[in-house]
Amino acid sequence: EEEKELDKLIAEMTLEEKVGQMAQVTLDVLTEGKSEFESNEPLVLDEKMLEKAFNKYKVGSVLNTANNRARTPQKWNELISRIQEVALKATNVPVLYGVDAIHGTTYTAGATFFPQQIGLGATFNRQLAINTGEITAYETRACGIPWTFSPVLDLGRDARWARMWETFGEDVFLVQEMGKNIIAGYQGQDNQIGDANHLAACLKHYLGYSSFSGKDRTPAYIPENELRERYLPPFRAAVEQGATTVMVNSGIINGTPVHASESLITTLLKKELGFEGLVVTDWADIENLHNRDKVASSQKEAVKMAINAGVDMSMIPYNFDFCDYLVELVNEGEVPMSRIDDAVKRILRVKKALNLFETPVTKLEDYPKFGSAEFEQKAKDAVAESITLLKNKNDILPLKEGTKILVTGPNADNMRTLNGGWSYSWQGEKVHEFSGKYQTILDAVKAQFGENNVKYEAGVSYNFEGKYYEEKDIDIAAAKRAASSSDVILLCLGENTYTEKPGDLHDLYLSENQQKLAEAMAATGKPVILVLNEGRPRLISKFVDKMQAVVQMYLPGNFGGEVLTQILKGDVNPSGKLPYTYPKYPNTLITYDFKPSENQDKMSGMYDYESFLDIQWPFGHGLSYTDFAYSDLKLAKSEFKADETIEVSVKVTNSGKRDGKEAVLVFTRDHYASVTPDVSRLRAFEKIDLKAGESKVVNFSIPVKSLAFMNAESVPVVEAGDFSIGIGSEQLDFTVTETKVLAKANPVL
Ligand code: IFM
Repeated sequence: EEEKELDKLIAEMTLEEKVGQMAQVTLDVLTEGKSEFESNEPLVLDEKMLEKAFNKYKVGSVLNTANNRARTPQKWNELISRIQEVALKATNVPVLYGVDAIHGTTYTAGATFFPQQIGLGATFNRQLAINTGEITAYETRACGIPWTFSPVLDLGRDARWARMWETFGEDVFLVQEMGKNIIAGYQGQDNQIGDANHLAACLKHYLGYSSFSGKDRTPAYIPENELRERYLPPFRAAVEQGATTVMVNSGIINGTPVHASESLITTLLKKELGFEGLVVTDWADIENLHNRDKVASSQKEAVKMAINAGVDMSMIPYNFDFCDYLVELVNEGEVPMSRIDDAVKRILRVKKALNLFETPVTKLEDYPKFGSAEFEQKAKDAVAESITLLKNKNDILPLKEGTKILVTGPNADNMRTLNGGWSYSWQGEKVHEFSGKYQTILDAVKAQFGENNVKYEAGVSYNFEGKYYEEKDIDIAAAKRAASSSDVILLCLGENTYTEKPGDLHDLYLSENQQKLAEAMAATGKPVILVLNEGRPRLISKFVDKMQAVVQMYLPGNFGGEVLTQILKGDVNPSGKLPYTYPKYPNTLITYDFKPSENQDKMSGMYDYESFLDIQWPFGHGLSYTDFAYSDLKLAKSEFKADETIEVSVKVTNSGKRDGKEAVLVFTRDHYASVTPDVSRLRAFEKIDLKAGESKVVNFSIPVKSLAFMNAESVPVVEAGDFSIGIGSEQLDFTVTETKVLAKANPVL
């Protein structure tokens, strides 16, 4: 019925109207004066440009990425209402407005900010991903916005990558699970995105976006079996779940820009995965096929390539030229009308599903819980479970009451670094201006340990006016002097905010100044607690042995200072685990699921990669203030057919003195296979609560099919043979008794 309605609507549209639906302009185009990036002046819509965008070009979508202005939900709502009013009058179709609400409704003053995805990954707690999605959806809808460009389903497998923190981590299963759950939060468990409390999610960046050289958006060479084995599953799972939109990877895979790849967009995503929603480009990426990627000799050819490859919507249609070119291309027979109709149908399908035709803008008064204490508590819970205790020599943490603390380091007194990029602005530059109500680490330490017990000397500061990595006001001597009257030093190091290309690095070690500060603090003889506030694991191997404790807080959002301090005090027991391998040396960047090779021929078990590879900490590492003992690993049987399910259980005991939470991770190892198997793979996980002294038996059901890998022909296959399964300290062997091919060979590359 709905589909027929869409067909009818499309049949009544002119070519110009159809093409307009496929254009997505940035808000900058519709506003007066300087761009959002350049000005703090209040936004004023430019009526002439509104006229041009909607009356002339019939534009179907608007986005904005930067917002340097203290916009409130009220102001958002007003702005979007006006845009909808003009658009509806001109086109009869509501605009689809999208933003990067990536760790909360990040363009709105007063919204609830959650940890960035990398921190959420460290919680290994699906419910927290659901909460993040649900609250973000609610608060974004309160602003009148129905679409978020989230989640990132790319894998964070290169610690040098400036977008590592936007991922859920290095492991495909973790990314898939957290991805599915945050989407369930955004879209609702039944994808009820039309109820005005949920959002359309956008799976990005399809496909194979990661870093392969340490720099953002470098060309990748990914064989089809690897692409399908590791990069595709989170997208496949999200599409199966009903995710409504997909954003394309700006990169080049095996020589072809993904935006020009019919194989990846149409054959794989739309046909094989059965994706029925809309595919949007990343920023100006049609233009980039000509300007940057050099596969199209003109901008017009770039439009033809991308649309024929299966792109439905052009983000940044270079001043509407996209629309003119596309109309010409259709009239010249270079782009079939059927392709245009398909694209428009997909766009309208999303608009319908969002109920935008009936309710183009929401009413703010329908969202009384915006920024509420209830929501804040959920964000704090997520922070509490993400912060990861990496080292705690002689149980220096938690700190005793009355401890005199020197707080130092560039990340100690800063809301901006706690939040990271895409927080009120693209690179996170302005976050501090709106955050008076939240505590920096320093504020929180003072509040919870008593002002009189706390001293502060930055030692090193970021130059917020310069590049993200620039530092200034280096006064290590002052920090040293201040240390003399303190019992411990809280050394807050890490990174300033960044994302995408501007966040590229030359050196994964922490900056020279920060390393010097660390050495100087260690030399005082006072115990040093290193707090890391960083988006990627910066190397700390030169001084980490001199640190008494190390706490990784990632990019926790506005509540990071408060919750970190509760952990330092012992009011909260940490339970985060690393969602990536923490490297020790620049030349040993590896993930836990690597393939054995010459360098690692002594590898025998699935946990001992750290001893052979000399990494800092392994994937899944994270300490607690209590101890968890694993015992009684039990397999229901030891031989399985390909269609069966492995029922496995383990007993986990809190053998320490405090209540705590433990992420129980299940790994398997395939002993021999026709393609060299990864040494270890995460197959299941569950976060549990255990009171001091309490034991729980945790059960897992793992379909044998999930042990399949992509063979040399890129076909998923479960091969007969021996496997090991490991949970905590426990390990057992089992056998798969038959080989089964799970799909027909259907390579697309
Ligand atoms: O969603 C983002 C994407 O991740 C990077 N480029 C810009 C897009 C829209 O802001």
